[in-house]
Amino acid sequence: MSYTKIIKQSFQVKFDFNLIFTSKLFETDNAILVDLLSGHAGTRTKAIVVADQGVTRAHPYLKSAIADYFKHHDNDLELRKPILEIPGGEQSKNDQSYIKSILESINDHGIDRHSYVIAIGGGAVLDVVGFAAAVAHRGVRLIRIPTTVLSQNDSGIGVKNGINYFGKKNFVGSFAVPYAVINDDTFLSTLHDRDWRSGISEALKVSLIKDCDFFQWIEGQIELLNTRDQDTMNELIYRCADLHMKHIQNSGDAFEQGSSRPLDFGHWAAHKLEQLSNYEIRHGEAVATGIALDSTYSHLKGYLTKPELNRILDCIINLGFHITYNEMGSEIINGLEEFREHLGGKLTIMLLKALGTGFEVHEMDKALVLASIDYISKYSNEKPEI
Ligand SMILES: NC(=O)c1ccc[n+]([C@@H]2O[C@H](COP(=O)([O-])OP(=O)(O)OC[C@H]3O[C@@H](n4cnc5c(N)ncnc54)[C@H](O)[C@@H]3O)[C@@H](O)[C@H]2O)c1
Ligand SMILES: [Zn+2]
Repeated sequence: MSYTKIIKQSFQVKFDFNLIFTSKLFETDNAILVDLLSGHAGTRTKAIVVADQGVTRAHPYLKSAIADYFKHHDNDLELRKPILEIPGGEQSKNDQSYIKSILESINDHGIDRHSYVIAIGGGAVLDVVGFAAAVAHRGVRLIRIPTTVLSQNDSGIGVKNGINYFGKKNFVGSFAVPYAVINDDTFLSTLHDRDWRSGISEALKVSLIKDCDFFQWIEGQIELLNTRDQDTMNELIYRCADLHMKHIQNSGDAFEQGSSRPLDFGHWAAHKLEQLSNYEIRHGEAVATGIALDSTYSHLKGYLTKPELNRILDCIINLGFHITYNEMGSEIINGLEEFREHLGGKLTIMLLKALGTGFEVHEMDKALVLASIDYISKYSNEKPEI
């Protein structure tokens, strides 16, 4: 008889982190960062900063403001300079040399598990820095400072990071919980209109699957959002982030071990659309189109009424999104299998049975997906060239 013995292992690890909302984080009288970072009395906490070049360009004062902040709190904090800048957007996730530069900086500056990497930027830069911080010394503390709407209400507040590899989005990455996330609304004023709008689709997404009141609120705020009213955007970000954080807390599957990924409503088509456009279409823009597609599919399948669908499509269009693109053809269907493969397990797609109520299905009727593509194309009558 072969030799068999088992020692069973089972333990839980509790994670806590705060998402803090503020303005003017790096003004010396704003104590949030120093309070967060300060270690034991008599010791100075070491930190490095990695910043999105799009942000340092749009906020030319930023590097000196950070240096002044650390100098002012010299008793408690030690900024290891220079600040490392990496290009914003997908470029940073496609080129592996940035991971190496961040690891080099962590190594050169003696960043250990009790010091901090501070990442400032859009979702792409946060993903790259997050991955480097997660693997250096098997995980050093990461403070995320998201600077786009999408990263403040969705990508920057979760527990994932990643880079693109083998031409596949987020193929390499890890689940890693940040030490803290700080949303500073000062950054949002310099966003291009596309990036201001882009993240609104994630709020639309979570409202449609979880919170009808929030959807109605968004419908009522379209004009203020389109004219870039900061208070309205702050509320949208807060409510969206709150729903995302609660989902991660309560889903029982923070590290996505199962097949279900409810927060990815509209995303199977969105990921494919991003890829087909060579990432010319922003993630949030693609998500808006993916929501239009899966809402239409929900209607054609008989789950969602026509007036409900019209409200969704009109809301997307009135926010300034395109509900379809030239890339939205039959090739999109391949996104279903790629979505399943990335997650593993069985295909699980979120659909809508009412405004604010999502539910999951495990198969999609491909002919009906094509009919949905046709439907939104006729509804919009406009397929933009990008
Ligand atoms: N980790 C996750 O859970 C998760 C979830 C969703 C999306 N994402 C990722 O997030 C990325 C998209 O993030 P994004 O929408 O924030 O866009 P982005 O990071 O691609 O940034 C868009 C552009 O805005 C610039 N920028 C950033 N902040 C700015 C500011 N304050 N002022 C002026 N310009 C600024 C950047 O330099 C860049 O050129 C994608 O790579 C996506 O895969 C990750
Ligand atoms: Zn998304």
